[in-house]
Amino acid sequence: MGFPEIRMRRLRSSATMRRMVRETLLSVNDLVYPLFIRAGEGIKTPIASMTDCFHFSPDRIAEEAVEVASLGIPAVLLFGLPEKKDEQGSEAWSEGGAVQQAIRAIKKHAPDLLVITDVCLCEYTSTGHCGVIKESRRPHSGMGFQPTRHRQDADATGVSDFKVDNDATLELLAKMALSHAQAGADIVAPSDMMDGRVRAIRQALERNGFQDVAILSYAAKFASAFYGPFRDAAESAPAFGDRKTYQMDPANAREALREIDLDIAEGADMVMVKPALSYLDVIHRARERFDCPLAAYNVSGEYMMLNAAAAAGLIDHDATMMEVLTSIKRAGADLILTYFAKKAAKLLQKIP
Ligand code: PBG
Repeated sequence: MGFPEIRMRRLRSSATMRRMVRETLLSVNDLVYPLFIRAGEGIKTPIASMTDCFHFSPDRIAEEAVEVASLGIPAVLLFGLPEKKDEQGSEAWSEGGAVQQAIRAIKKHAPDLLVITDVCLCEYTSTGHCGVIKESRRPHSGMGFQPTRHRQDADATGVSDFKVDNDATLELLAKMALSHAQAGADIVAPSDMMDGRVRAIRQALERNGFQDVAILSYAAKFASAFYGPFRDAAESAPAFGDRKTYQMDPANAREALREIDLDIAEGADMVMVKPALSYLDVIHRARERFDCPLAAYNVSGEYMMLNAAAAAGLIDHDATMMEVLTSIKRAGADLILTYFAKKAAKLLQKIP
């Protein structure tokens, strides 16, 4: 070796040395915990497709929220499973809806915990799509269709025979976001990928006196196969076709930056890239280009790949979990939405 001797290993020589020169520090402050709220009473049922995740009815959510808050996690993200679905997804903006009730319960029992709500119609529509359907040559009552959870192409030709009506959907999303704000949500998070929805929601909030409610936009949301376990959990798989005419093509990174740029211009306070692990380059590029808080969603398929491999004895659960979360932060995310939040918070604070 030449002079001076550059020996990279000097800085790795002890745990203390490594701690001192560590570049990326994951913190409990970075974590958001997603929760599934099911209409009904007395429900706390394990979700078959997602390890250690539960469906909670609104009357059972306070206890969970208090625990999440006591771990130091700053926010939860709420998804709703309605009593019944229809073509418009009308339970999404019902004052007595499961999410609206859950928001009130959380705000009452854990007032400092931030409540973020997912704003999207797919859990509420009989079609399982994130908006209303305009033209369809297929019936779409939601009856008699096999959910296309694992299928990515609409049909052999790849041509969709239905259209999700962008502008008609905007109104409904605005109503949904407004009803979450009225129930006490701190942040609304549109995940539908309709064009113009951030503006429509921002306007509805401003006009109704909710100028302090923030928008976390799922700005770059890809049409990903990693959502499979979630669609079981949220009962939100499309009854026909796929989401490729509204969610992004996984091959496109420049387009993701355009989406983010637009959402910021429309009034988003924070933006998100989703999923996280197959899109670390997008997170990195978004971090370099934009200065608002950047979130990344470590989605259900990413969560369950790790859980399945750990359950098979192939990898160490906690070590891989921390490596994954740290890598998402290192790529540039300020916030990580993750089903690992509680476990990671306990490890970070050495709570058994
Ligand atoms: C609803 C929505 C989805 C997810 C979050 N919001 C599913 C989808 O777009 O089909 C996925 C979350 C996850 O996989 O953990 N639009």
